[in-house]
Amino acid sequence: MKKIIVTGKGGVGKTTIIATLSRLLAREGHRVLVIDCDPSMNLAMSLGVSLSDVLPLAENKANIHAKLELDLDDEHAHENGNEIEIDEVIEDYIVETKDGVKLIVMGTIPYGGSGCLCSSIALVKLLIGYIASGDNDFVMVDSQAGVEIFGRGLASEFDFTLVITELMPKAIEVTRHVMTLSRDLGVKKQIVIVNKVEDGTECETISRELGLNADQMYSVRCDKKVIEADKKGLLILDYAPQASVVEDIQRIKEEILEG
Ligand SMILES: Nc1ncnc2c1ncn2[C@@H]1O[C@H](COP(=O)(O)OP(=O)(O)OP(=O)(O)O)[C@@H](O)[C@H]1O
Ligand SMILES: [Mg+2]
Repeated sequence: MKKIIVTGKGGVGKTTIIATLSRLLAREGHRVLVIDCDPSMNLAMSLGVSLSDVLPLAENKANIHAKLELDLDDEHAHENGNEIEIDEVIEDYIVETKDGVKLIVMGTIPYGGSGCLCSSIALVKLLIGYIASGDNDFVMVDSQAGVEIFGRGLASEFDFTLVITELMPKAIEVTRHVMTLSRDLGVKKQIVIVNKVEDGTECETISRELGLNADQMYSVRCDKKVIEADKKGLLILDYAPQASVVEDIQRIKEEILEG
């Protein structure tokens, strides 16, 4: 099983790319579980599911911990030989979406002043530890913009960090920081995806000049069809399956499959 985290600055295209990539993988028969760890909770909609059909983990932490019979703060519980049937614990929280991609939503901040997301992120980390021994081919995490998720160590020893960026100094700055944190956590490969690239832009050259030192680097073209689809509440893969953005993500999928 491959574990992948998708991260990057706000609005660079993380959710669009993870939703499309996960569906393309699932269409080839791979078993894909995606986890939305962004409290904005956009991933469900990007996979064609209404949030009203999803039971977020954060609202049910007490139940889940009771089922796991675990201490909420023990992030290493799954390593301590606790034999549980993880599917039974989380079945209520998994929603089947487009092309058979399975989705778990971490949840959000319920009201102003209700506190931070640390315990919710810790719960996701714990579940990923259990899920890793299950029968998924890919577990992919969509994250909140920025670097906080790495502070909680969620992606510890993941296979890939996909850092989505645009060719703008501020986004590149975030990218550089994320890659450092990702390496600190022992993620095996840092892959940069430069999104919204205008035709003819030599993103590899530019990114190298900007000092990015990724293991692999890909580009995804800017495609107005993505915005058209968003405005209509449709998914790019359904709205314009031949769009350049789909073609580019397809290529990235093949590279990921090669390892
Ligand atoms: N290749 C692309 N070409 C044109 N527009 C794009 C492309 N990829 C994403 N977009 C647009 O960029 C906007 C942000 O996309 P998306 O929500 O996927 O980003 P995000 O990084 O997940 O944002 P957030 O940080 O809020 O979670 C959307 O309006 C989307 O339609
Ligand atoms: Mg997003």
